[in-house]
Amino acid sequence: MKIETVELSKTYGATKAVDGVSLSLEGDVQVLAMIGPSGSGKSTFLRLIGGLEVPTTGIVKIDGQPLPSEEAGLREVRRGNGFLFQSFNLFPHLTALENIVLPLAEVYGRSRAQATERAEEVVERFRLTDHVRKQPGQLSGGQQQRIALARAMAHDPALLLLDEPTSALDPEMKAEVLDLIAELCESGQQIILSTHEMGFAKGSADHVVFLAEGRCIEDAPSKDLFESPATETVSCFLEKVMKW
Ligand SMILES: Nc1ncnc2c1ncn2[C@@H]1O[C@H](COP(=O)(O)OP(=O)(O)OP(=O)(O)O)[C@@H](O)[C@H]1O
Ligand SMILES: [Mg+2]
Repeated sequence: MKIETVELSKTYGATKAVDGVSLSLEGDVQVLAMIGPSGSGKSTFLRLIGGLEVPTTGIVKIDGQPLPSEEAGLREVRRGNGFLFQSFNLFPHLTALENIVLPLAEVYGRSRAQATERAEEVVERFRLTDHVRKQPGQLSGGQQQRIALARAMAHDPALLLLDEPTSALDPEMKAEVLDLIAELCESGQQIILSTHEMGFAKGSADHVVFLAEGRCIEDAPSKDLFESPATETVSCFLEKVMKW
């Protein structure tokens, strides 16, 4: 994917959540990780790229195309993407399978039969077949997040946006969700994720963007950023969070 932002800003009241970020990621970035301290603007940046928010100023271009600024155009962009957030956001009254079938039928216009067939295919790939008849309340956090991930990618999104997909999970469940995301990375899915899992970002992302106070402090190929950060800010952050 090719991602470019030009002086991208998003302001909420007096808070500059994203503050004049100009980035130009050309070439072969398939998996991009956003890292940085809490409140640094990662989620906001991800939402701007995914078309969930309209910038206060600036432009986002994906593969050379500027994102539309009007609602109808943005809705189309969102429809083409897949999203997964920290909290699972599954419909509590539907079975796991129905949580995947429903958007395929209602949002993506597949027939019930096609939607069910596709949902069964993804749950099998995600090793969730045994759980599909359960409702979210009967599933562990890790299983719920795997269902939410299956739902996010069932329509073959152009871009899969994951906002701290594992931060609400226990270590073991974290690992099972990260394994699945790593598998998606390996399968060629284009992914942008925000994460506090530095090991995962280092191992699975091609490129990393480090944000602090809404600004991009560094962006570099993953290995370079983790092994030889160019700024004091990034090296202090990494030292602190990778200590244990
Ligand atoms: N909808 C909103 N309304 C008001 N302020 C917001 C909103 N969304 C984000 N902010 C503020 O913008 C700043 C950046 O928030 P953001 O959620 O993007 O950070 P983050 O890097 O994702 O943090 P975390 O690692 O804790 O998830 C924070 O100061 C936050 O309080
Ligand atoms: Mg966030």
